[in-house]
Amino acid sequence: MKLLVCGGAGFIGSNYVRYVLNERADDSVVVLDKLTYAGNRANLADVSEDPLFEFVMGDIADATLVRDLMREVDAVVNFAAETHVDRSILFPEEFIRTDVVGTFTLLEAVRDLGVPRYLQISTDEVYGYILEGKFTEESPLDPSSPYSASKAGGDLLVLAYYRTFGVPALVTRSSNNYGPYQYPEKLIPLFITNALDDLPLPVYGDGRQVRDWLHVLDNCAAIDIVLREGAEGTVYNVGGNCELENIGVTRAILAEMGKPENLIEYVDDRPGHDIRYALEIDRIRELGWEPSTDFTEGLKDTIRWYIENEDWWRPLKDRAFREYYEKQYGER
Ligand code: NAD
Ligand code: DAU
Repeated sequence: MKLLVCGGAGFIGSNYVRYVLNERADDSVVVLDKLTYAGNRANLADVSEDPLFEFVMGDIADATLVRDLMREVDAVVNFAAETHVDRSILFPEEFIRTDVVGTFTLLEAVRDLGVPRYLQISTDEVYGYILEGKFTEESPLDPSSPYSASKAGGDLLVLAYYRTFGVPALVTRSSNNYGPYQYPEKLIPLFITNALDDLPLPVYGDGRQVRDWLHVLDNCAAIDIVLREGAEGTVYNVGGNCELENIGVTRAILAEMGKPENLIEYVDDRPGHDIRYALEIDRIRELGWEPSTDFTEGLKDTIRWYIENEDWWRPLKDRAFREYYEKQYGER
């Protein structure tokens, strides 16, 4: 298969590109990525010389470019998005442009050119939060933030293009990923890299919010199975079966790193903060997938990766990143 992987220079996308090139000897991959602050050629450095890999810098909202790139592909996997909830609260516009209009642009090209397969990488955040029980794929969408609302817009457009135009599309909605190459603005890599520098770990509110943690390589395996074996027009939840309170994750990071708990700093809560996410994953289990990484082991490996790859993350905590955090938390 020839795959067009949009957003393949980000965290999950780059892990997926590596996964495909390692696991699928007959596949080739073209990455289309705008290289926003979150996109990074360094994420793909180890595959950049592979003859089955090509990189194109560009925007999924550029209709001419995406049509050009789709002419000979067998499948499109769309990871491209603005992804950070806190940024969506400060700067929502880019989320609408990429997550909604960008997705629409891809779908129009898929429809016109008759691309045989389209997989949209969506998120469990489209369901909003749930205090008890778990979301199934039939649960209503009730997003809380500009990020999750824009992702819900893209997700619903995909399903509408399947129903109205017969576009051969599928959707995955996964829970919180962690692992190597995650931009150090998200909880786990932010807290690991802050702890390495003995900086405070800013826990929002009381830290009792619950997230379901999924190792990125487990998600890559899930995405690959859905892409190849999933039923068109179908949504697949992808969860890690690993619900933890944020404060528990924070303490686990500090304990593993041998750092003191007085680095924990309780700060103002995130506006509209979702209390708990939890996913029913029976549907994807029927395709033979199961999350397989134990969180304690996965976290240990992730911490080790950030310790060994300071050259990767240190430049990302540079001026632009500080500007953003200063805007949010004030100067430190
Ligand atoms: P990320 O922020 O690390 O990467 C996003 C990538 O998209 C970057 O490489 C960026 O340059 C690229 N991009 C952004 N706008 C673009 C545009 N207009 N055109 C082309 N490329 C563009 O994100 P991630 O954490 O890897 O998430 C990937 C996808 O998975 C997203 O769609 C996200 O909503 C979804 N998701 C993420 C998680 C998670 O925990 N990280 C969980 C569930 C779903
Ligand atoms: O659930 C899937 C989603 O997970 C993805 O769709 C998003 O792209 C991804 O960013 C992630 O969203 P969250 O908002 O859950 O992730 P984040 O890492 O920003 O925060 C995780 C939890 O930790 C959340 O409850 C907020 C809290 N938090 C986060 C940060 C960055 C803190 O307490 N302090 C922080 O500094």
